[in-house]
Amino acid sequence: MLTPSNPTTHTITAALPYANGPIHIGHLAGVLIPADIYARYLRSCGQRVLFISGSDEHGVPVTIRAQQEGLTPQQVVDKYHTLNKEALADLGISLDIFSRTSSAHHHQTTTHFFKTLHDQGQLEAKETEQYYDPVHQQFLADRYIRGTCPHCGHQDAYGDQCESCGTALSPEELLRPRSTLSGAPLQRKKTQHWYLPLDRHESWLKQWILEEHREWKTNVYGQCKSWLEQGLKPRAVTRDLAWGIPVPLPQAKGKVLYVWFDAPIGYISATQAWAKEHGEDWKPFWQNPNTQLVHFVGKDNIVFHCIIFPAMLKAHGGFVLPTNVPANEFLNLEGEKISTSRNWAVWLHEYLANFPNQQDVLRYVLCSSAPESKDSDFSWKDFQAKNNNELVAILGNFVNRTVVLTHKYFDGIVPTCHTLTEVEHTLVTYIQKLPGQVGQAIEKFKFKEGLQLCMDLARAGNKYLAETEPWHLIKTDRERVGTILHTALQLTANLAILLEPFLPFTSHRLEQSLGMPHPATRQWPQAGSMALVDAGTVLAAPTLLFEKITDEQVEIQRQKLYNSG
Ligand code: MF3
Ligand code: ZN
Repeated sequence: MLTPSNPTTHTITAALPYANGPIHIGHLAGVLIPADIYARYLRSCGQRVLFISGSDEHGVPVTIRAQQEGLTPQQVVDKYHTLNKEALADLGISLDIFSRTSSAHHHQTTTHFFKTLHDQGQLEAKETEQYYDPVHQQFLADRYIRGTCPHCGHQDAYGDQCESCGTALSPEELLRPRSTLSGAPLQRKKTQHWYLPLDRHESWLKQWILEEHREWKTNVYGQCKSWLEQGLKPRAVTRDLAWGIPVPLPQAKGKVLYVWFDAPIGYISATQAWAKEHGEDWKPFWQNPNTQLVHFVGKDNIVFHCIIFPAMLKAHGGFVLPTNVPANEFLNLEGEKISTSRNWAVWLHEYLANFPNQQDVLRYVLCSSAPESKDSDFSWKDFQAKNNNELVAILGNFVNRTVVLTHKYFDGIVPTCHTLTEVEHTLVTYIQKLPGQVGQAIEKFKFKEGLQLCMDLARAGNKYLAETEPWHLIKTDRERVGTILHTALQLTANLAILLEPFLPFTSHRLEQSLGMPHPATRQWPQAGSMALVDAGTVLAAPTLLFEKITDEQVEIQRQKLYNSG
């Protein structure tokens, strides 16, 4: 168990979203919300946490977007970096830093990393033939090549990945490859590149993952196993492209580092940028063997975070390896794959504009339908149902009844607790165990389960009020009603602590209405107690935590989606 007296350093990363478009619910459900829950929970447990992410600003997705929007790549990333950074802050994603990979500092760190690998003989230069577009007279990045997926037969697979079945590909594997720039049949032409010889790393990777990390999520372990068993081949870490970090070698003019080489180094450069700003040392977050490094990613990122980046870190030397990579599967939208290029998404910045002050509704829905072990689906109808039937009817209802009754019968002053009966004793035992149970779920990356356990507490609260019926008792036994509301208020205070990682805005409102100091009592080890709010404390005026979402609101969102997608 994690205790504040025994703090560990946790470096928590959320995959850097490409700055080629706005952040959507897929990024949130798969990566950013789980990472935020984990980071908030660990902070609440008194752990030392650095939670980082940023914009992935190189790579072909950015240059494609630039072409489409008639902007330069830098203009594109400036635009989306700003938009996404603000939107994430609005959603309460508690990042310590949201940095960017086009920064001068990131370029320096990455250049240095590459040179170190090169000078230590950890890279291999090789001349190969690559696809060349004769019309545009340039080598084609994997993303500009499309063809038929050899695994599932999808005809529009990219040269680096099939969006339909999720398999990572190389352009040579595609059947009937074609240029998306000109449509022309592709030529093969010679070019020199630098490779990370993954084959040299295969044996320790096998030992480290397959033997020493059997506890990783089954979807993650399974993908690693299949990669490792197929045998690892050298992977090019440079590209013939104009947008990216120049390869720091004289013989590599016009070439840049592959985006998947520079982006994960973005975690390190982000840590350095944060440390510099705060007058701290970055090294403990990456080089102390006791540090817990956890990468939150989507399933298409597993190989990069479990195999390639660890190989880079090991080849460089001096770095810790990830403790865990709790990757999620994909979230679909109304039954279809989310796609930035096809505009089939719910964009975070638009949600925030359309549903002001309802950040926690989105956080709740995305956590409770997160693709933790298989693909899952977001639909506006389900969003409405979860809000109306769970947040309003269960959580909001319990808290509201408790606070309203305390105002009605005790002028909003927390009443004294008198004799406890059987039903309270049962609640005391239940509440004592709950923080440990929720905490364990979070530590095992079972965030849905953790949130459900919190909702069960609100359910237990409703049941308690329904059974004890303080509204009837008030005529005959005011002292007993005092005990009941005192107890219900302690349950509410526990909800404030336990829900904080999941629903931070709601948690804060609960603290305010209970007159709890913020964030002094908002600490995990204090949860489980029935003495969180003192008798005599003055409650704030009751306000509604959640409001019903109407059919009309849902229809507007559905129309918008179906008309744009
Ligand atoms: N931009 C990548 C994606 O969206 C993720 C990069 S994660 C990092 O799939 F490790 F490279 F930073
Ligand atoms: Zn496929």
